Amino acid sequence: MIAAPTILVFDSGLGGLTVFREVAAARPDVRLVYAADDAFFPYGRQDEAVLVARVIEVMAQLIAAHRPDLVVVACNTASTLVLPQLREKFKVPFVGTVPAIKPACSASNSKLVSVLGTEATVKREYTRTLIREHGNNCAVTLVGSPRLAELAEAELKGEPVSDRDIAAEIASCFVAVDGRRTDTVVLACTHYPLLLLLLQRLERLALWPVNFIDPAPAIARRVVDLLGPARPSANPLPAHAIFTSGKAPTTTLAAALARFGLAAGAPARV
Ligand code: DGL
Repeated sequence: MIAAPTILVFDSGLGGLTVFREVAAARPDVRLVYAADDAFFPYGRQDEAVLVARVIEVMAQLIAAHRPDLVVVACNTASTLVLPQLREKFKVPFVGTVPAIKPACSASNSKLVSVLGTEATVKREYTRTLIREHGNNCAVTLVGSPRLAELAEAELKGEPVSDRDIAAEIASCFVAVDGRRTDTVVLACTHYPLLLLLLQRLERLALWPVNFIDPAPAIARRVVDLLGPARPSANPLPAHAIFTSGKAPTTTLAAALARFGLAAGAPARV
């Protein structure tokens, strides 16, 4: 019997769970490992050179420990910076998560699109190039949020966050000019769909209805392109989460992880 492939899903924290969920739904028959570099969270505030070195170091240890057949970097802040170096250094294929500017700009009717990401992601040359190449004559507003990833983590960990704090982080996404209004918002940080899908906060706090674009389903499709579809008869395999801080998850976090089908595993040696 052929052994099930292993997929490693990596993020700075809990945001990558939004990608993990789609990958797990598309390939329930693979061995899935979720790794959160929570010891270094938030990536959005790290210096670029320090972050490149950190991601390479952590990835080397995770690859040595888990021998994945494919790695999903479920983090825009890391993917827009360090994917070329990861691909150069390691043989395993990497699927990155980058702002979904192309589908957003081709779907927008009002031609007003906002990209909501960490301050680091919206500053990256990678993001600016995506807009130049795939902007489709849209006016794209870049909104760097200093706190939204942390607010999403706090909510998931059971620490309530006020509507006012979330509304303040997303307000600049809503632009009205000459009778037109923003109709599409790219969620360019994997933490933000936690606030949308799981916690139903973004839609409620939007200034008017918009189409929020979550890249996770497209990433799962890319994984299937590379590894093939699930084997129909295979049973789902247990998945586990690793936290580089080595901190044991609280009861609330363990319950949240369980909602994603994850048990917390042994800490990574980072
Ligand atoms: N989840 C990460 C992303 O997609 C960023 C959060 C952080 O700042 O660590 O960009």
